[in-house]
Amino acid sequence: MSLISASLARVKPSPTIAISSKAKELAAAGRDIIALSAGEPDFDTPENIRNAAKAAVDAGKTRYTAPDGIPELKQAICDKFQRENGLSYIPAQVTVSTGGKQVLYNAFMATLDAGDEVVIPAPYWVSYPDMVLLAGGTPVIVECPMESGFKLTPEALEAAITPKTKWLIFNSPSNPTGAGYTRQELKGLTDVLMRHPQVHIMTDDMYEHLSYEGFTFCTPAEVEPGLYDRTLTCNGVSKAYAMTGWRIGYAAGPETLISAMRKVQSQSTSCPCSVSQWAAIEALNGPQDYIHNSLEVFQRRRDMVVEMLNDCPGITCPTPDGAFYVYPSIQGCIEKTSAAGTKITDDEVFATALLEETGVAVVFGAAFGLSPNFRVSYAEADDVLREACLRIKRFCNALN
Ligand SMILES: Cc1ncc(COP(=O)(O)O)c(C=O)c1O
Repeated sequence: MSLISASLARVKPSPTIAISSKAKELAAAGRDIIALSAGEPDFDTPENIRNAAKAAVDAGKTRYTAPDGIPELKQAICDKFQRENGLSYIPAQVTVSTGGKQVLYNAFMATLDAGDEVVIPAPYWVSYPDMVLLAGGTPVIVECPMESGFKLTPEALEAAITPKTKWLIFNSPSNPTGAGYTRQELKGLTDVLMRHPQVHIMTDDMYEHLSYEGFTFCTPAEVEPGLYDRTLTCNGVSKAYAMTGWRIGYAAGPETLISAMRKVQSQSTSCPCSVSQWAAIEALNGPQDYIHNSLEVFQRRRDMVVEMLNDCPGITCPTPDGAFYVYPSIQGCIEKTSAAGTKITDDEVFATALLEETGVAVVFGAAFGLSPNFRVSYAEADDVLREACLRIKRFCNALN
């Protein structure tokens, strides 16, 4: 009898770990490494939020809470959805978890049976397929090439849906591409879903507040109110308020689903961190200028990185609508040989050679289900990004 469960055996180890372990190994050996692989803002949590947490500690708000969040936070979340997304929810339709990741995990654990399919547009956030596998479901990957802006088309969605489809997971702006769906593009997808009443939509709006000039964020239940009862609208404070370590994510949706997710959570983590919940209330209800200020910085960095990467021979870098990632193609580098003699056969070889030869760590596209690309996180200081892009350019210049 195997100690390790069959369901875990279906899950592959995170492919991103290989590159970050290698980066750490090289840094420990004294190499000058620039890691552009992290998925978190490089800013501190705003002061008003930190103060709210300190006040919560001093007020003794340090005990277990209700399993899926304190009433005050649930109300702040309802207010947020009404104010920013035009969506009306009551607290019983809201759940709070240990990060956005646990929200998604709970939802899959609460709903998937063997054979249930989840449509996942690729490139995808690395955790989606493995969470589905862990929960016993079947990921159905739909490739969304660069030529269609890395976006799912209504035709591709229609073709992917079967009688076994339970969920579509939707992420805009996206990790890893930064691609955002316009209202019209999203309407094209929701029209398809309206024809398939067995399909639910899990929308991962984690990067809502990282939407740049010219792109207006929208979310499925707002675009198609007819899907309100079939939509789990997921969000969190991690990316919007530089609170990745506080571990607070939330979602709103049908009450039956929310209470099933509460059951999963009550038997796993009991409740999200009490102090972090009070900090999250301040994030949602307090002044929002942090969002505006950080957006300006990220947009400036995005523009610089896109311009510098497009200046690298063999690389094509589309301009993303949001998040803090770019996902350039290395099609023009394939089959070439690096200065140190490595033949670039795919994006994993590219990323490994780039790290070994220049010290720049990026995540290869195969990890996100669409090649040949790599992901750069530009949540880094401007001068660090500039130096990294110069190194990438030198690497590409030397390919022949
Ligand atoms: C698309 C997407 N969804 C969800 C998450 C999870 O966020 P959290 O840190 O709140 O668990 C991430 C984090 O990288 C993400 O990129």
